[in-house]
Amino acid sequence: MPEIILGIESSCDDTSAAVIRDGYLLSNVLASQDVHKSYGGVIPELASRAHQINIVPVVSEAITRAGITPDQITAIAFTRGPGLLGSLLVGTSFAKGLSLAIDRPLVEVNHLQGHILANFIKQEGAENRQPEFPYLCLLVSGGNSQIVRVNSPLEYEILGQTIDDAVGEAFDKCAKMMGLGYPGGPVVDRLAKEGDPLRFKFSKPHLPGYDYSFSGIKTSLLYFVRDQIALDPDFMEKNKADICASFQKALIDILMDKLIKAAKDTGIRQITIGGGVSANSGLRNRIEEEGRRRGWTTFLPEFKFTTDNAAMIAIAGWFHFRNGERTSIDVAPVSRLAEF
Ligand code: KG4
Repeated sequence: MPEIILGIESSCDDTSAAVIRDGYLLSNVLASQDVHKSYGGVIPELASRAHQINIVPVVSEAITRAGITPDQITAIAFTRGPGLLGSLLVGTSFAKGLSLAIDRPLVEVNHLQGHILANFIKQEGAENRQPEFPYLCLLVSGGNSQIVRVNSPLEYEILGQTIDDAVGEAFDKCAKMMGLGYPGGPVVDRLAKEGDPLRFKFSKPHLPGYDYSFSGIKTSLLYFVRDQIALDPDFMEKNKADICASFQKALIDILMDKLIKAAKDTGIRQITIGGGVSANSGLRNRIEEEGRRRGWTTFLPEFKFTTDNAAMIAIAGWFHFRNGERTSIDVAPVSRLAEF
């Protein structure tokens, strides 16, 4: 009997549903929420309302595109957290309702585990390279920045993490400060390609171990831009690309210094990245370049699996399902990682 997992993701501002059969992706449907754009960030209440509107058509489309009927589903994997509570509540409640309706078990998934396991999603006709255990995952998103040692699909050790802001927030703040819109990462990434990364220098934190900090560099960008604008009001407009390129380089240097240290100290050379910021072309190039230099085997998720998507929730759910784990119908979503 094939094992068919329906995955449901609603932790932030993307409503997504996906179907996998024995680890192979059959469908992955995503509805993004444009409603937040004009506010320069995600508004939680608007996000949960949009999830409520999107969830039924998104799940139904995922099932149709997969070419299956609901009674063929083996289990329903859903994101229990971390994320926005109201948003998580929509996905969790829907998963529970469907579980009762079709009499199939629920499997809860930690959203971050989804990012960490995204490289295990197999696709028909693709190369489907997969990392060997143990591997290191640089998990970089709007809410997290961590170096995780992955010992097996369900066994992790967080070697280091941010003590303040996530790297995605630094990208978003940079864009906001420069009036480039939200989310900031993709636009900073695009402008950085046209700029000189060596033109401006930003101060970097000096933290021991593998922990990160991004609040200082964010503030240093703010003061730098403010001081320059005082001298020349058009400074930002004229130097947008160079500012983005230099700021992005500084963020990548911070991320890479600790990753290289962790790889050296642990002797692990299987390296993966995950999370929204892993879509960044500068970071992807740099990981591959360091990989060639240092003899790493690197795994970069396809772009569609970098930001929030239900395919990664389905694959992580499949690992839990095969481990015999089932989630009770009275489960509640959790907003913070520490509550898991
Ligand atoms: O993983 P994700 O979708 O959401 C969380 O779970 O947090 O990540 C969103 C973050 C945002 O901060 C966004 O600016 C960033 O990922 N991002 C990027 C790029 N694409 C998305 N950052 C840098 N370069 C990109 N190309």
